[in-house]
Amino acid sequence: MSLAQRLGIDLPILQAPMAGVQGSSLAIAVAEGGGLGALPCAMLSPEAMSDELDRIRAKTTRPINVNFFCHLPPESDSACDARWHQALAPYYAELGLDIDSVPAGLGRRPFDAEVCDVLETLRPEVVSFHFGLPSPTLLERVKAWGATVLSSATTVEEAMWLEANGADAVIVQGLEAGGHRGMFLTEDLTTQVGTLALLPQVRAAVTVPVIAAGGIADARGVAAALALGADAVQVGTAFLCCPEATTSMLHRRALQSEAARHTALTNLYSGRPARGIVTRLMRELGPISALAPAFPLATAAIGPLRSAAEALGSGDFSPLWAGQNTSGCREVPATALLRELASEIS
Ligand SMILES: Cc1cc2nc3c(=O)[nH]c(=O)nc-3n(C[C@H](O)[C@H](O)[C@H](O)COP(=O)(O)O)c2cc1C
Repeated sequence: MSLAQRLGIDLPILQAPMAGVQGSSLAIAVAEGGGLGALPCAMLSPEAMSDELDRIRAKTTRPINVNFFCHLPPESDSACDARWHQALAPYYAELGLDIDSVPAGLGRRPFDAEVCDVLETLRPEVVSFHFGLPSPTLLERVKAWGATVLSSATTVEEAMWLEANGADAVIVQGLEAGGHRGMFLTEDLTTQVGTLALLPQVRAAVTVPVIAAGGIADARGVAAALALGADAVQVGTAFLCCPEATTSMLHRRALQSEAARHTALTNLYSGRPARGIVTRLMRELGPISALAPAFPLATAAIGPLRSAAEALGSGDFSPLWAGQNTSGCREVPATALLRELASEIS
């Protein structure tokens, strides 16, 4: 049975879950178009997740991928927070904000027993994880309702670990990919490999199906990934300008401008490396800085800067997540993009 058959989809194309820039509308459109639509839950409360899944169920009977982060929440470290606030203080002053009133909050929620309780009643067909896998007990509960489990690997070692620890298929996330690196066995960025190099090496190292992600933005890219041994592809960045995504106008404009030619990995916005269009904050403090608190604690102090700057029309402090290939970013309906992506699959 092919991976697409196992997942219950017509096309071997997965829409990448993208927390913060899409919800049920994009997932529904992709599902109805014959791909695997995804609902990212890293920034949703269990109630919001449940509402979004109800919306999806009301509009489509096709399978859906529900996606979670599975990091361990860090202890907060007041000395580290103080250093981070000091680094950001000049920007707070510039925008007339008070550095002493940074809101508390984690920013991103990991998959836990409470989320699993809600998900168990909704029984999505596919559950995917970023940053490894949840505890064996939680993973067993997910598998008990028959869900197919996916997770991202950024190295051959991570792919082998995921196969050995219960992933039903591995998403091979090349260095080109937009958003957070799914890396979980290493923090060393020099271990990270491009899609073209990583895909055949993972293909040779595991027996579970592999899904190629990172830099795939058109039909030739899809065909190339399949030729290199991928069973399916996962595309993120190219969907960001579809009307069904919730990407802000500022982000959309940046994606379709020359600025999108320069992306970098940065830890400034969350505490973990993620790829986005280079901003003023990344140029001046990073893009990688030892001052940023552990994931996801860095997010809290960026929030006020981002909101204040965006109100003035500036993306200086916004995470403009994007992969290295933004050539697929156009204002076309997701089903049309999906059809184009699939047009050279033989
Ligand atoms: C804006 C954005 C947000 C993302 N958020 C998530 C997420 O919430 N969960 C996840 O597993 N991957 C996330 N990713 C990574 C994607 O799963 C995928 O690896 C990537 O989009 C593939 O590369 P591409 O962007 O070049 O197509 C995100 C990517 C982008 C561009």
